[in-house]
Amino acid sequence: MDDTDTYLFNFKGYNFERSLIDIDVLENLDDFEIRDDDVFIITYPKSGTIWTQQILSLIYFEEHRNRTELVETIDRAPFLEYNICKVDFLKRPSPRLFTSHIPYYLAPKGLKNKEAKIVYVYRNPKDVLTSFFHFSKFIVTLESSETMEQFMRKFLDGKVVGSLWFDHIRGWYEHKHDFNILFLHYEDMKKDLRSSVLKICSFLEKQLSDEAVDAVVRQATFQNMKSDPRANYKEILKNEIGTRNDDGAFLRKGTVGDWKHHFTVDQSERFDRIFQRKMKDIPLKFIWDMNEE
Ligand code: PPS
Repeated sequence: MDDTDTYLFNFKGYNFERSLIDIDVLENLDDFEIRDDDVFIITYPKSGTIWTQQILSLIYFEEHRNRTELVETIDRAPFLEYNICKVDFLKRPSPRLFTSHIPYYLAPKGLKNKEAKIVYVYRNPKDVLTSFFHFSKFIVTLESSETMEQFMRKFLDGKVVGSLWFDHIRGWYEHKHDFNILFLHYEDMKKDLRSSVLKICSFLEKQLSDEAVDAVVRQATFQNMKSDPRANYKEILKNEIGTRNDDGAFLRKGTVGDWKHHFTVDQSERFDRIFQRKMKDIPLKFIWDMNEE
């Protein structure tokens, strides 16, 4: 059964999570006041958002790195469009970190001054789809699909939060010259987290000591985030979002190539054909599988 409208709120052609939106926020996104030292993490859902929130929080806030303050990562880098805790963004001290899943055309126009920075993280879409499938079964605010086939159809029709993956990544990539943006690849972060952290530091013009970089890398590994109450979002899921069962987690597997355990050969080939057609002129690299020790 297609219950899409119960869960999705379409605003200017893009699907938001209905239960979390505030229409005033969406209508005022364009004019949202941007400061030059603002930093935005922008992703399509399930592409490494909370990972990047954790990395940027560790880079920017020494108290986060030293564990002298017990602030949840989501409060360090709150969502722009889902301001669940009704934080007054205008009163936040600089530098402000934000997180968002918005498409390029809904970005506040102040971001086009190219002073504020955007870190855009993308992930191979077969793993995005797999992660999304599990997450949708897990939390109550997303429409659950019984089978991978059902979810794949919705994903490929763009009938999910975030709309069509292809449109999101193409949009940001093709308009990259309008923004001050760094593209990061989830799979590169998996392969060599330290190099990715250094790349982020360089883009953000943050000079950290070697020891501080080591601490960022250590606290941003999957295992350490999973056991870190600030980073695993267990409390948010329990208290603010709601879950359908006890089996899931934000930090589920964190691997590259998990799709191979869930796609049939036919589904994989179908996906490949669509991917090749839609992405043929986008020179971003993709990694679909990785040997992990
Ligand atoms: S959301 O709901 O859009 O904010 O989800 P998002 O954070 O973008 O994506 C969740 C997936 O990212 C994985 N993740 C990590 N992978 C590797 N290392 C680290 N440190 C890490 N942190 C989060 C998380 O496990 C989800 O992927 P899956 O494949 O479901 O495990």
